[in-house]
Amino acid sequence: MRALSRRARSRRESIGFVPTMGALHAGHVSLLERARAGHDRVAASIFVNPLQFGPREDFSRYPRPLERDVRLCRAAGVDWLFLPTARALYPPGSTIRVAPGPLGSRFEGAVRPGHFAGVLTVVLKLLHIVEPDTLVLGQKDAQQAVLVGGMIRDLDLPTRLDVAPTVREADGLALSSRNAYLNPEERARAAGLHTALVAGRAAARAGAREAVKIAAAARIALRLTARPDAVDYLALVDARTLEATRKLDGRRALLIAAIRIGRTRLIDNLVVAR
Ligand code: PAJ
Repeated sequence: MRALSRRARSRRESIGFVPTMGALHAGHVSLLERARAGHDRVAASIFVNPLQFGPREDFSRYPRPLERDVRLCRAAGVDWLFLPTARALYPPGSTIRVAPGPLGSRFEGAVRPGHFAGVLTVVLKLLHIVEPDTLVLGQKDAQQAVLVGGMIRDLDLPTRLDVAPTVREADGLALSSRNAYLNPEERARAAGLHTALVAGRAAARAGAREAVKIAAAARIALRLTARPDAVDYLALVDARTLEATRKLDGRRALLIAAIRIGRTRLIDNLVVAR
């Protein structure tokens, strides 16, 4: 992979890179197309990274429709599809990990201990292997994007981060490989997550400034529409740092949430103030 990318670079070609865990959907494809539009070469990776799954999570049942994924990559104009094995990335004796800092244990990190160390470690490895000019990530995973941006800055990586907008179903549900786990009844409720975030944004647009008011509006809508089996978190945060925001103050703010519907965890976020 690195030889291919270095050869392209020696020809002064620019490289965009989209890392994924496969089970590709239109959200992933939008990232591939964005990388395609902005670069001479596009690299994508599919690797279900064991390091970012907890012991009771869905690593073994995570969908792996490889042939379909390869077709989608080809159709989106991917030049290089990197499919490493776990043994290649984590040979016996590999123990060094990237520490995400305090944000790594909040929100997703509070519910999934070790998750972001696993994400940052694999993304750092992939960046060293692919050596792209631009890394394209999705806003859907807002905390991941902020943490990877922090790693790029704090570890002086020579890569630009491009964060692409969330692609949604017609009813607002953010596309996710995990949506495949939902039965029809759960799928209908799942759209309520986006509806709830929209209700929070509507409260802000109607003049609410306090985070508690905005979150309350979203929480009420969430109970009515998604009827979640659990709410892991629902919070108004600074879009740049993901620090909790008490009150809208002109800075860009996000409403972020994670819920469970049946056995499936869903996350989403929406810009509430820009
Ligand atoms: P995965 O969940 O496969 O997502 C790959 C990329 O697609 C991520 O940047 C994610 O934010 C983006 N994405 C997912 N759903 C999207 C949607 N509906 N619209 C736009 N983009 C979307 O995120 C990971 O894999 C892994 O943590 C990874 C970064 C590959 C490291 O293992």
